[in-house]
Amino acid sequence: MSTGDGAALIYDGDPGIDDALAILLALRAIGAGLRAITCVAGNVPVPKSFRNAAKLIELSKRDGIAHEPEIGIGSAKPLRAPLRTSEHIHGSDGLGETQDLFPGFDPRPYLAKAREGVGLIADILSREPGPVKIVAAGPLTNIAKLITRYPTAAARVGELVIMGGVFEGEGNASPVAEYNVYSDPHAARAVFASGLPIRLLPLEVTRRAVVRREHLNALRGSGSMASEFAIRALEYYIRAHGDRLGKEEGYLHDPLAMAIAIDDSLVLEEELWRVEVEVKGEITTGQTVAYRGPWGVEGNRIRVVREVDIGRFSRAFFMALKGPPARAHP
Ligand code: RIB
Ligand code: CA
Repeated sequence: MSTGDGAALIYDGDPGIDDALAILLALRAIGAGLRAITCVAGNVPVPKSFRNAAKLIELSKRDGIAHEPEIGIGSAKPLRAPLRTSEHIHGSDGLGETQDLFPGFDPRPYLAKAREGVGLIADILSREPGPVKIVAAGPLTNIAKLITRYPTAAARVGELVIMGGVFEGEGNASPVAEYNVYSDPHAARAVFASGLPIRLLPLEVTRRAVVRREHLNALRGSGSMASEFAIRALEYYIRAHGDRLGKEEGYLHDPLAMAIAIDDSLVLEEELWRVEVEVKGEITTGQTVAYRGPWGVEGNRIRVVREVDIGRFSRAFFMALKGPPARAHP
């Protein structure tokens, strides 16, 4: 995977297994390009996602990646909706019950340095001389707060790559809603309407980034801690999907979003849509509605990804976890 254009990058998410793999991908592919990981309540409560971000930095250090991105502790709950976590998919620790891979882990040094998440994003946007990309792969609560609390900083976002929404087929949080949008529909609605340079990667596209047990064989014997973690976490993730959905396969939602932020040549087709979010429906809350046709309804349009090069992504993803870290941009 190309190591991107050296642009500064922030990961805002809810690690969570697929988030964790996206973060490892960033640490291995762009190293110091990853300026910060900011945590938001979603798959797991924010204290757990904070711990998990710190664990992933430690794990990467054990693979010889010295870079330590800042960690921001973001929103502990959605703007208005109740918090709905997903430990049934991600495990009680949020990382597929891999506690034994982190013997003696102590979060306190990370807690001592941690910043409030939304303010950290604003500071990075304000201080970076060049464009800053944000990958948002959890509920969009932090991003919505960034826009309202720090509009000048938010206007400096170079690109906001969001994993979320669904426009074809069923949702994964309800028959019509994808989890990140469903978890905080008010935040998603505000972000999609904000005018920020958004590239949206919806569920019907990320579902093509399928991982099954046989794919994990490519990671066995590589010797990297990233591979060992990925094997264990994905085995849990695949089993959890099997138990819940009857299909023994997982989906690399957030790693695909991260990969596109690093190398957007993976995007083969995208369209400009206005996207609205249902926030009041009894059965449709969190549904994303795309204005594609001439409905005469004006508003900010966003780029919605329709096709990606899944084969190249999958090869690059597993290679990045196995191999030595790419020469990371300073
Ligand atoms: O719908 C998939 C998204 O919800 C992913 O970001 C996953 O981590 C969960 O947050
Ligand atoms: Ca996520």
